[in-house]
Amino acid sequence: MLKGKRVIVVGGSSGIGLQISRELLASGAKVVVASRSPKKLALAKENLNDSAITLSLDASDELSVQNFFAGIGEFDHLIVTIKSKHLVCDFANTSTESVHHAFDTKFWGQYYLARHCIPYLSKQGSITLTSGIAAQRGYHGFSSISAINGAIESLVKSLAVELAPMRINAVSPGFTERRPKDTVRFDDIKMLGGHPPLNRLGSQKEIADAYLFLMQNKYATGTILTIDGGELCA
Ligand SMILES: NC(=O)c1ccc[n+]([C@@H]2O[C@H](COP(=O)([O-])OP(=O)(O)OC[C@H]3O[C@@H](n4cnc5c(N)ncnc54)[C@H](OP(=O)(O)O)[C@@H]3O)[C@@H](O)[C@H]2O)c1
Repeated sequence: MLKGKRVIVVGGSSGIGLQISRELLASGAKVVVASRSPKKLALAKENLNDSAITLSLDASDELSVQNFFAGIGEFDHLIVTIKSKHLVCDFANTSTESVHHAFDTKFWGQYYLARHCIPYLSKQGSITLTSGIAAQRGYHGFSSISAINGAIESLVKSLAVELAPMRINAVSPGFTERRPKDTVRFDDIKMLGGHPPLNRLGSQKEIADAYLFLMQNKYATGTILTIDGGELCA
């Protein structure tokens, strides 16, 4: 089903996006991996097989996003996993400038990508964006990222109506490993108030599989797929 499909992964040079790119290539898709840093892209290319195309792109720059899609031409699916510089800070002490900066990357970056891919996206194609569980649950110091994730989820639901038959969805990851058996990060998450019933972080593969599911399920649109080890139920 994925063999020969052209898939763009923006944010694919590390973390969850890199894992998605690895799985797409293993399924025979033609993958373009994009992010800002040429160094990270070179490392990603070493990590992936040689057929991955890597391109430098700052998704927070609207003109660059337009030129990026014009340069690529027609394709089948877009997946976006870009992350803002992490801002965990008391609301009262967070600088407004840093919140604008975070919106520029994770909200506006995803908005520009969804907006400007449309002329090139197959009518049977899909867009999968990324939110995060902070959209649905308060964690001390997470107000900015909550607001960004909430905006993405609302955008996805509205665009599902407007873009059909093209599909648009989002994955909402819970707390995820940066590396296998990431116990240090899990301890930090517990300090922040995270207590997933499964009592561990998600693996990058467990989160990546959710993007591949949404991309391939032809009746999924407007869906926010939460994969969080039960965190939002606890
Ligand atoms: N990991 C978690 O626990 C967790 C939990 C909830 C939600 N999420 C969300 O899941 C997504 C992926 O997280 P992750 O942990 O895999 O992040 P990550 O490892 O930091 O990867 C983020 C990717 O985005 C790229 N990027 C950042 N800014 C960009 C920009 N302006 N233009 C283009 N590319 C850009 C980065 O490469 P460059 O630096 O080269 O640009 C990198 O490839 C994020 O949206 C994050 O908020 C993660």
